[in-house]
Amino acid sequence: MQVRPLGSALGAVVDELNLSTELGADDRQRVLDAFAQYQMLFFPAQSLTPDDLKRIAGYFGNVAQYPYAADLAGHPGVTEVIKAEHDEINFGGVWHSDTTYTPNPPVASLLYSRVLPPVGGDTLFANMYMAWDALSPGLQRLLRKRNGVSTSALRSSTGNNMRGKYKRSMKVEHVDNNDLTATHPVARVHPVTGKTALYVNSAHTKNFEGMTEEESRPLLEFLFTHLKQPEFVTRLQWQPDSIAIWDNRCTQHYALNDYHGHRRVMHRVTIESRNAETR
Ligand code: SIN
Repeated sequence: MQVRPLGSALGAVVDELNLSTELGADDRQRVLDAFAQYQMLFFPAQSLTPDDLKRIAGYFGNVAQYPYAADLAGHPGVTEVIKAEHDEINFGGVWHSDTTYTPNPPVASLLYSRVLPPVGGDTLFANMYMAWDALSPGLQRLLRKRNGVSTSALRSSTGNNMRGKYKRSMKVEHVDNNDLTATHPVARVHPVTGKTALYVNSAHTKNFEGMTEEESRPLLEFLFTHLKQPEFVTRLQWQPDSIAIWDNRCTQHYALNDYHGHRRVMHRVTIESRNAETR
């Protein structure tokens, strides 16, 4: 197994590892170590079934239910992320960490490329340790004591509020139409690395706890702009039949919507922590 950095901000490509059969304990540990070091791993040219994806997800935690989209038929825990030729908006086309509006957001998510456009459809990843470290000591002091309130109700959250205005064939809505809300520290200490990551995102964070949305907005807007600066970002150019796994505790991602007229289909598994220590 070869691990080589994909960009200076984060990410690594893992070559010479066949994920279609069960990994031995040593390889699993090497993958987990690389994951802690690089925050996002890309495994090109893998021939995998939805059951394989769930087995691989199991190396990182438990398969979780994504609350806003139906499962792939016959495969609970696997979501099909589709942008069809005639669609105008995509899924995940906003900087975010996954489902921070839930009490225990997923530690990681896995995406497998099934159908790719001839060009475009890349995913951007940003390093939230770098974003935190680049803040001034004064702002870090202020933010360390703060919690952020996330909601699924923001317009940008899932795109479901945009139905009727923009065309998207993928159904992204909660079964009972309920909005979800959860509160998390703005300065998130990663349970494995012990490093601090900035943990607010423009898709879901609406205010600081104990402050109004109007009071919170200027500082949140500053942070949302700060965290996506190019030096913190690695761009993943997909290849056919490839997997990316990212750590939601210390990264954010953004799916580019730049391939109008073409189809992109990905299979996605959301991964929750197996225990409170790694949450
Ligand atoms: C997501 O936000 O999970 C989708 C990312 C992508 O499709 O590139």
